[in-house]
Amino acid sequence: MVLRSVIAGCGIYLPEKIVTNDDLAASVDTSDEWIQQRTGIRERRIAADGEKTSDLAIAAANKALAAAGLAGTDIDLIVLATATPDETFPATATRVQSAIGMRGGAAFDVQAVCSGFIYALTVGDNFIRLGQARNVLVIGAETFSRILDWEDRSTCVLFGDGAGAVVLSAAEGEGTSNDRGILGARLHSDGDKHDLLYVDGGPSSTGTVGHLRMQGQEVFKHAVVNMAAVLREVMHDVGMEASDIDWLVPHQANRRILDTTARKLGLPPEKVVITVDRHANTSAASIPLALGVAVADGRIQPGQLIVLEAMGGGFTWGASVIRW
Ligand code: ACO
Repeated sequence: MVLRSVIAGCGIYLPEKIVTNDDLAASVDTSDEWIQQRTGIRERRIAADGEKTSDLAIAAANKALAAAGLAGTDIDLIVLATATPDETFPATATRVQSAIGMRGGAAFDVQAVCSGFIYALTVGDNFIRLGQARNVLVIGAETFSRILDWEDRSTCVLFGDGAGAVVLSAAEGEGTSNDRGILGARLHSDGDKHDLLYVDGGPSSTGTVGHLRMQGQEVFKHAVVNMAAVLREVMHDVGMEASDIDWLVPHQANRRILDTTARKLGLPPEKVVITVDRHANTSAASIPLALGVAVADGRIQPGQLIVLEAMGGGFTWGASVIRW
């Protein structure tokens, strides 16, 4: 018998305000046609004034708890992935801890930008498999609208705000790939690629929050190569092939990255969950948002093999294989 982390419930939250490509074209030199053709994005959500990353995270967490049939008091660990915390400290996860009425346990943030959810999920899974936690809330929550340079058309059209959460619960498995729960994960980073995607501010560098800066074409090239490679790696770890995948739920950066990666892996496009058209790139929130959508609309069913994968600033990248 082995301990496995089973996903007991998912929840998502999107801010109310929808900003279309045409809305953006009113303030920067861009067009709906350019954005859709290059990225597949049609619209994104933007947090209201005063709406913080923790507000989004708490709303998603409460929905995930309800879906799992658990209360805040049942949770013994929160791992929250974000690159846009409410404050430099304390961790945004502790805000969630207080709001959901969790007593005891631990709550902390993980920072791996767009790969943050895979990192957080893997940390939560490791706590469960070591017997150090029974019910873990894993959250991806971002307000990237706060770190965008709204005069830079090459970046401001790409991102949106949102949050998604899952509850991981400990369950016993046989130690085979037929077990329910997380079967394998791989994480990577490459600090040499810092300058291709970063924020030009921070408490110990400029003392300001800063803005996102990116060399888009370079990021595109690395994203396709790294995401295909890590997916092959993690499928090899669990003794399966890409053809065994029922649903690929990738980080939603850009439709062209998703299509190219799927093609490289020989995965039919119908097996890829796409939400980038409506959510844009929500960084650490994008995978749990896409997962939540595909669970809610009934595409993801018990027993299916789900693969999550992401790549982001750092660079960081990773993948996770789950038997639903
Ligand atoms: N509207 C209109 N024109 C634009 C816009 C815009 N929003 N943005 C850039 N352009 C212009 C450029 O100025 C350039 O004009 P020029 O030829 O006169 O100089 C032209 O479009 C082409 O620019 P490129 O940067 O070469 O455009 P490209 O085809 O590479 O598309 C894009 C840019 C969409 C950013 C692409 O490189 C990309 O998707 N990269 C991946 C980046 C990404 O997804 N990052 C997310 C974070 S990392 C992650 O999540 C994986």
